[in-house]
Amino acid sequence: MLNLSEVKTVVLIGFMGSGKTTVGMELARRLKLRFVDVDSVIAEQAGRTIPEIFAREGEEGFRRRETQALESLYAVDGAVVATGGGVVTVEENWPLMRALGPVIYLRTRLKTALQRIGEGEDRPLAKGVDRETRLKTLLAQRTPLYERADLVVDTDGLAPCDVARHIIDNLQSWSRRC
Ligand code: S3P
Repeated sequence: MLNLSEVKTVVLIGFMGSGKTTVGMELARRLKLRFVDVDSVIAEQAGRTIPEIFAREGEEGFRRRETQALESLYAVDGAVVATGGGVVTVEENWPLMRALGPVIYLRTRLKTALQRIGEGEDRPLAKGVDRETRLKTLLAQRTPLYERADLVVDTDGLAPCDVARHIIDNLQSWSRRC
């Protein structure tokens, strides 16, 4: 059985509004690990907010920065890493994430994600007209990518602490398979 004190780093992936940050913070607390938010690392490295990066450098520039931020985490020794929703779309990011630790997909229905995202003020891809249709398409495109994760955990209707508990239970059975 997995000794949870031996868990080094775990990586959370999932759509915007899947709760990666709130669940990640709760998981980090329970596993006594640091919490690292990749979007915060990107903003810190750029000296700009995420909406500013999108406005000045476009999504392409943001994606380059996202890969650089992941690369910079190689030396992190024990953390729960919450990624941005689009990290899975860049193939190069996969080996970087897998090198950090098990990749966990927080699965969320579109309806739940939309409720959590609200007006999407800090999320350039979730703003503006027709956002529901756009997000629906984006989620459909990304779902097969998210499903490449080592573990899939459903989050709909669950509080962050329940999701964190499920992840810990699942990590234990995942480690027994290895
Ligand atoms: C994005 C999700 C955001 C952020 C950026 C792009 C995406 O992170 O990285 O706005 O492409 O889905 P969250 O998933 O934390 O909202």
